[in-house]
Amino acid sequence: ALISMRQLLDHAAEYGYGVPAFNVNNLEQMRAIMAAADKTNSPVIVQASAGARKYAGAPFLRHLILAAIEEFPHIPVCMHQDHGTSPAVCQRSIQLGFSSVMMDGSLMEDGKTPSDYEYNVDVTRRTVEMAHACGVSVEGELGCLGSLETGEAGEEDGIGAVGKLTKEQMLTDPDEAADFVAKTNVDALAIACGTSHGAYKFTRPPTGDILSIDRIKAIHKKIPNTHLVMHGSSSVPQEWLAVINEFGGAIPETYGVPVEQIVEGIKHGVRKVNIDTDLRLASTGAVRKFMAENPAEFDPRKYLSKTVEAMTDIVVNRYEAFGTAGNA
Ligand code: G3H
Ligand code: 13P
Ligand code: ZN
Repeated sequence: ALISMRQLLDHAAEYGYGVPAFNVNNLEQMRAIMAAADKTNSPVIVQASAGARKYAGAPFLRHLILAAIEEFPHIPVCMHQDHGTSPAVCQRSIQLGFSSVMMDGSLMEDGKTPSDYEYNVDVTRRTVEMAHACGVSVEGELGCLGSLETGEAGEEDGIGAVGKLTKEQMLTDPDEAADFVAKTNVDALAIACGTSHGAYKFTRPPTGDILSIDRIKAIHKKIPNTHLVMHGSSSVPQEWLAVINEFGGAIPETYGVPVEQIVEGIKHGVRKVNIDTDLRLASTGAVRKFMAENPAEFDPRKYLSKTVEAMTDIVVNRYEAFGTAGNA
């Protein structure tokens, strides 16, 4: 059944677990997520970015998610729009039937220039008014995602890097978060705590100084009833990097957010955990391996089903690690 993010995350908060939110662009990703949810009895958040709408087309994406709900009626599914750049974009998604939208007012409408606080409050508040009137939940964002180690913004919504950020821009301020929530009434808040989008987050496995669990704790204390969202939560599995590079790929050494650190965040109020890159890496690894080992094969279903298997394993692992399993 289709449910709102608020309903899903309120349950997660009550029982102290987190819910991974996976990006979807195609049938194989959707199948992998649902197979894993079915296997582990987990609720689902699937999210579509602007890039996904451009790739698959909004109607195909919408029906992909509706098809999942039809095939797995016992699994609660939240259909979420990732990184909306304006109230108008969010409104179109609400009209399409999304049960949750993100209004990312941390950046201007171009999706790359950091915005000022008043702008963020204004676009987010307007989106919440409209969405709540339709029973749709809203996620806002305060602070700019960036790697505290490298000072790089990463791929914010894949639209492009914004250049070097200061440490203050890269850590959400707890007092400002409290003011933002009071003024906008968002259901969930994406915070900046040292993670960044994409595969190139850290040049070494991150420790406490570059991923700030302390900041998560401080924010959660100020806004205990707002669900915290961790973007850029891919762990960048080293085993898949090795497979990619063994079978013709060339991805330089890089590290993501260790699953244990995300679990630590969940203990302190993180409820929604955004993951895209890990499924991309797993499917690319699976395709490269299959192609290299089966050079005479040309039926796409053969290699695409390998991607489904590879992605399902990751999704099952995250559902189990985050405590989502058993809560459908
Ligand atoms: O937030 C970024 C997600 O990974 C979506 O990426 O815009 O390339 O679809 P995308
Ligand atoms: P990753 O690039 O770490 O998978 O993050 C995805 C994300 O935050 C989507 O909004
Ligand atoms: Zn994101």
